[in-house]
Amino acid sequence: MLNKIRKQSLLGKQLLEDKFFLSAKKLTDIEDKKEIFRFDVINYLLKRFDENKSKYLEIGVRNPSDNFNKINCKNKYSVDPGLEYEINPVDFKLSSDDFFSQLRQNKILDATIKFDVVFIDGLHLADQVYRDIINSLEFLSEEGFIVVHDCNPPTEYHARENHSFNLSPALNNWNGSVWKAFYKCILSAELSCCCIDSDWGIGVISKKKYFNHLNENFNPFFEFTIFEQNREKSLNLITFEIFKNTLDKK
Ligand SMILES: C[S@@+](CC[C@H](N)C(=O)[O-])C[C@H]1O[C@@H](n2cnc3c(N)ncnc32)[C@H](O)[C@@H]1O
Repeated sequence: MLNKIRKQSLLGKQLLEDKFFLSAKKLTDIEDKKEIFRFDVINYLLKRFDENKSKYLEIGVRNPSDNFNKINCKNKYSVDPGLEYEINPVDFKLSSDDFFSQLRQNKILDATIKFDVVFIDGLHLADQVYRDIINSLEFLSEEGFIVVHDCNPPTEYHARENHSFNLSPALNNWNGSVWKAFYKCILSAELSCCCIDSDWGIGVISKKKYFNHLNENFNPFFEFTIFEQNREKSLNLITFEIFKNTLDKK
């Protein structure tokens, strides 16, 4: 027993001295101190629409008091299969794929519904996030916005695909591979994208051409190192101030 405790504390000490743990912790702390949150951006965007008519959809809610309840909109809809929060007080207890499939078949809501802001924060894997974006575009108003959480992982540990990797230097913080789905949108000539540098990267996508477009694909194999070396360009990374100035002019 004593040996086991000694081994555990030795492992703890080794981890605390590990340079990857230390640098990941430092970057986690920096991100945690940034002061603009996803609900600030979403509420700013919703103000552009008629408050009586605008519609908001959140994919992946967990505890609504963290974000959903802070959103100022009269017509809000929430989707979550309830994998992380047992109570799961949402409108549609479904995966996002099932939600969109049932919506298309007129089984839930009216299939002609158009949302003005869709917030995507469900399963943080690129393939799923990209599908959530494409499905959301189908039900997005012409002037609408898609907001994507976790686009800016500080390290490759935050960007790991397997959330449950317990010894990750990012500890429990998980942005997954969302950045890859967002990078794919950045490259699309049909879409206009930028990412606000706060709260783990708040990506914004619109059909209207508000933001600068990236003309070259300099990361065709989605390598994290190349992403990291070209973070600003990869995400069209901007401050909330510049974001607001850009949109307020349009
Ligand atoms: C990061 S949490 C959401 C946090 C919340 N949006 C916030 O801002 O505080 C991710 C949520 O996505 C849900 N989720 C996982 N897979 C999903 C899927 N395929 N479709 C929709 N939601 C999913 C989980 O159940 C979990 O509650």
